[in-house]
Amino acid sequence: MKTKRMLFHEDNEQVIKEAVHLLTEGELVAFPTETVYGLGANAMDETAVEKVFAAKGRPSDNPLIIHVANIEQLKRFVAEVPHDIDRLIRTFSPGPITYILRNNYLLPSNVTANLHTIAVRIPDHPIAQRILEKCDFPIAAPSANLSGKPSPTLANHVFDDLDGKIAAIIDGGSTTVGVESTVIDCTGNIPVILRLGAITTDQIKEVTGNICVETDTTNIKAVPKSPGLKYKHYAPAVPLIVITKGIEAMQNEIDAQQKKGKTVGLLASNKSAQKLIANKTVTYGENLQEIALHLYDRLRSFHKSEVDIIICEAVTQEGVGKTIMDRLIRAAHLVI
Ligand code: TXA
Ligand code: MG
Repeated sequence: MKTKRMLFHEDNEQVIKEAVHLLTEGELVAFPTETVYGLGANAMDETAVEKVFAAKGRPSDNPLIIHVANIEQLKRFVAEVPHDIDRLIRTFSPGPITYILRNNYLLPSNVTANLHTIAVRIPDHPIAQRILEKCDFPIAAPSANLSGKPSPTLANHVFDDLDGKIAAIIDGGSTTVGVESTVIDCTGNIPVILRLGAITTDQIKEVTGNICVETDTTNIKAVPKSPGLKYKHYAPAVPLIVITKGIEAMQNEIDAQQKKGKTVGLLASNKSAQKLIANKTVTYGENLQEIALHLYDRLRSFHKSEVDIIICEAVTQEGVGKTIMDRLIRAAHLVI
């Protein structure tokens, strides 16, 4: 299959029209959201949804998020929206958050991997919004990467992973957030964060009056409530060591690896990078927003042909830093 690149310009209604047409025909179209690029399929079309799992190499027991244009549409695909959750939705959506709600089984069961719950998100990105407004169906969209690889934040990342496997990719430039949506389970007595994301637990607690807990999302051995969490994620092409013990420990590890004959890649803040010496240095920015935005692109920038190992600087666990660390720990081969 030839994958069409559709460049999006400000008033390019034709691109939106074509995307909607392809989706209606049961084809897969990758498009930008504010978090990461999504691989979209008509969620009402069982065969189209099957194609998503095939293109990504995604295990069929890992359910997809459905994307809808607004709260009204969200309500069509869930059995109920509890009162306190309604408040959350009105506060954070459209935005980088996904609600797990009780399923009303309107959609084919492969979307939700046969679960009694369904994941719904209202993205806040003009391209995603314009497509959703024109579709008379919700769009099932996982991140548009091959299973196990870092999520795509640029159209080129999608090309690297899915060229030839999907009908089209809308190139709308860089996403704006860079890490995936927060996944929050709203089916129990209190909301539970299943996947840390762009919206922090503290932000959610401000709305719920402190009522919200996080699952230990890094304990991969525990039976995960969010099926996706049990799989290896975000892995770069070469092994990654995350260093939490500061800049001296980083240089020590670089030196130790080089002594073993390894070519070492360094991923760090601009400031730290200036003080460290490795074979290839890549910076991820300075503040947490920048790091969230650049992280996956930078992880993708190391290739086997250049380095044997990546040494990466940890970030603070505050705010979105906790999400960044969650992703780094999942991507890592070792955390020191
Ligand atoms: O930011 C995002 O959420 C992006 C953009 C494209 O919207 N999408 C995304 O989708 O990250 P994906 O498929 O890569 O991750 C969805 C996560 C997986 O961990 C999956 O297991 C979980 O949501 N999930 C989906 N449905 C669920 C359900 N019913 N119960 C619990 N977890 C669910
Ligand atoms: Mg994903």
